[in-house]
Amino acid sequence: MVADTSQAGGLLIERATAQDLDRILRIEQESFSVPWTRKMFEVELNQNPFGHMYVARPSGGHEQEGGFIGYVCFWVVFEEFRLMTLAVEPSARRRGFGRALLRHAMAQGRAQGATRALLEVRASNAAALRLYVQEGFQQGAVRMRYYTNPVEDAVLMELEPMP
Ligand SMILES: CC(C)(COP(=O)(O)OP(=O)(O)OC[C@H]1O[C@@H](n2cnc3c(N)ncnc32)[C@H](O)[C@@H]1OP(=O)(O)O)[C@@H](O)C(=O)NCCC(=O)NCCS
Repeated sequence: MVADTSQAGGLLIERATAQDLDRILRIEQESFSVPWTRKMFEVELNQNPFGHMYVARPSGGHEQEGGFIGYVCFWVVFEEFRLMTLAVEPSARRRGFGRALLRHAMAQGRAQGATRALLEVRASNAAALRLYVQEGFQQGAVRMRYYTNPVEDAVLMELEPMP
């Protein structure tokens, strides 16, 4: 049985709620050139039976205590775990929070029966690509000119079996 929340290294990861949406949107807008809209997050939170969203809240005396510094959204569709979005507030990056969110999400996916993890990432996103490779993902096909603003290829990545 995998706990729905996880706490380690001064970080509490728990399910996102409607109260978290304003801050999620702010981090999203700071993190992506084509950010998700409020409506898209609301669908994941309230309507998508396959969708899951978690936020990472610093705990234990951290300067950002009370708020949260990152979030992850993923789908679990039968045996498939699909990472939909992952972001950490710019001022809190490079402290292990992105990795902790990804690992928490994948543990939830495994607990729900997923055996294969999939994601897609901009070809120029060196930080995310390195994180995913470190976590065991392998590069698959490239979708040419998949993204807009700027137009860019998408790299598909896969991890099977999930650890
Ligand atoms: C990708 C992202 C979530 C990583 O979050 P983070 O909390 O900074 O990452 P972590 O501190 O957990 O770092 C984990 C690993 O990611 C890689 N990484 C993270 N930032 C990096 C950077 N600026 N340059 C190179 N590698 C980087 C490293 O391999 C790092 O491991 P290391 O510190 O042991 O070398 C964060 O950079 C972000 O929010 N980016 C904008 C949104 C985004 O691109 N999301 C992914 C969409 S697919």
